[in-house]
Amino acid sequence: MKVALGVSGGIAAYKAAEVVRLLQDRGIRVQVIMTQGAQQFVRPLTFAALSGEKVITDMFAAGGDENSQPNIDSAIEHIAVAQSIDALLVVPATADILAKFAQGIANDFLTTLYLATTAPVVVAPAMNVNMWSHPATQANLELLRQRGVRIVAPGDGYLACGMTGPGRLAENDLIVAAAMEGLAASQELAGETVLITAGPTRERIDPVRYLTNRSSGRMGYALAEAALRRGARVLLVSGPTSLTPAGGAEVTRVESAEQMRQAVLKLLPEATIVIKTAAVADFRPQRAAEQKIKRKGAMSLELELTTDILAELAHSKRSQIIIGFAAETENVLENARKKLMSKSLDAIVVNDVSREGVGFDSDRNAVTIITHSEVIEVPETTKWEVAQRVLDQAVRLRKVPQAT
Ligand code: CTP
Repeated sequence: MKVALGVSGGIAAYKAAEVVRLLQDRGIRVQVIMTQGAQQFVRPLTFAALSGEKVITDMFAAGGDENSQPNIDSAIEHIAVAQSIDALLVVPATADILAKFAQGIANDFLTTLYLATTAPVVVAPAMNVNMWSHPATQANLELLRQRGVRIVAPGDGYLACGMTGPGRLAENDLIVAAAMEGLAASQELAGETVLITAGPTRERIDPVRYLTNRSSGRMGYALAEAALRRGARVLLVSGPTSLTPAGGAEVTRVESAEQMRQAVLKLLPEATIVIKTAAVADFRPQRAAEQKIKRKGAMSLELELTTDILAELAHSKRSQIIIGFAAETENVLENARKKLMSKSLDAIVVNDVSREGVGFDSDRNAVTIITHSEVIEVPETTKWEVAQRVLDQAVRLRKVPQAT
C-alpha cells in the first residue's frame, strides 16, 4: 500500500514528519510531496531521510537535478504517482491548498496530483482561527466534503499566531485513522468490475429530431467516480451528456436504447456488478424517417416499446449483482418493490422525481434503496453521497450474494 503525503506551507508542517513514521509502522510506503511553502518551514531532506524515498518538491524537478532540463518523465510523473497511490493525505492542508483543490487549480505537483488521482483523499487542515472560520474556507471545505474528500477537523487550542480557537492540526492518531479508513475504502471494490449505465437515450424521429428525457447523467457519473475510488474497474456506458467522465473509467458512448442494450450485453460477461442509472427510453418511433419531416399539418407518431435492458439482464442466467434505479412520481415504494421483483434485481434505488430540486437534472438527490431484506432511506444529499450509499450496498450484496 502506498500513500502520497502532501505537505503544504504551514507552521504545522513539521508535524507531518511524525505521520510519515506512523504510516510506515503500519507497513505503508509514503511518497512525500512538498509545496514551495512547506519548504520554507521544513527541509525536504527531513522527509527524504524519514520516508526513505525521494521527496517531490516541484512539477519539473522530480526527474532531474536543478541544472537538467525537465524531461518528459518528470513532467508526467504526477500521472504516474496518481495511478500508483492508494490514498492522498495532506498534512497540514492550508487554506490555500483547500481553495485550490476546491476550485481545481493545478499549478504545482500536489494540486495537479489531486486532480489526477482517483484514490481517496484525506486532508488535515491547520490554520489561523479566522482563516478557518472564514466563509470562503468553509465553502471550500463543504465543496470538498461533497466530493468525497475526508476532512480531519482541526482541534481547538492555542495557535502559533497567538490566538486560541479551532485551527490547530488534529492529533496524529486521528489523522492516521482517517488515512487508514481511506486506504480501506480504496480496496473495497478491488477486483470487481462495475458496469454502470448513465444518462438519457435519444430515439430518432428523423435526421434532426429525437425523443429523449431530462436525465443529466450525473448520478451515473458520480457512481463511476466513486467506484473507481474504491478500487473497481469501471465500464461506463453513457447516453448523450455534457459531463466529463472520471479518468480511468472505460467509456462506451451510445445514443439509442438499442445501442445501449448492445453495449451492455457485450460488456456484461466482464462485469461482476451492474448498476443501471440510465433513463432508458421506454418508447421509440416505429420507424425513423430518412428525410426531415416537413411541416405540413398535425401529425402523429407511432411509438413502439424498447427492450427493457435491465429485465433482460436479470432474467438471463447471471452471476452479477444487479442494481436498478427507478424514477417514480406516485406510490413510490410500492412501485419500486414491484420492479425489484419483476426485474429480479438484487437492489433498486428509487427516487421520487415529482419532488422539486432533486433527481433529474440536479446535483442533489433523495432516494430509498430497497433490497430483498432491507429498506435504506437516504435523505436529500449530494449525488456523490448517494453514490457512496449505493456502493455500500453493492459491497454488502457482493459479500453475501442474495438469492433472487
Ligand atoms: N430500464 C432499462 N431498459 C429500459 C427501460 C428501463 O434497462 N428500456 C432500466 C433503467 O435503467 C432503470 C430501471 O429499468 O434502472 C427502471 O426504469 P424506470 O423507467 O423507472 O422503469 P420502467 O421499467 O421503465 O417502468 P415504468 O416506466 O413503467 O415506471
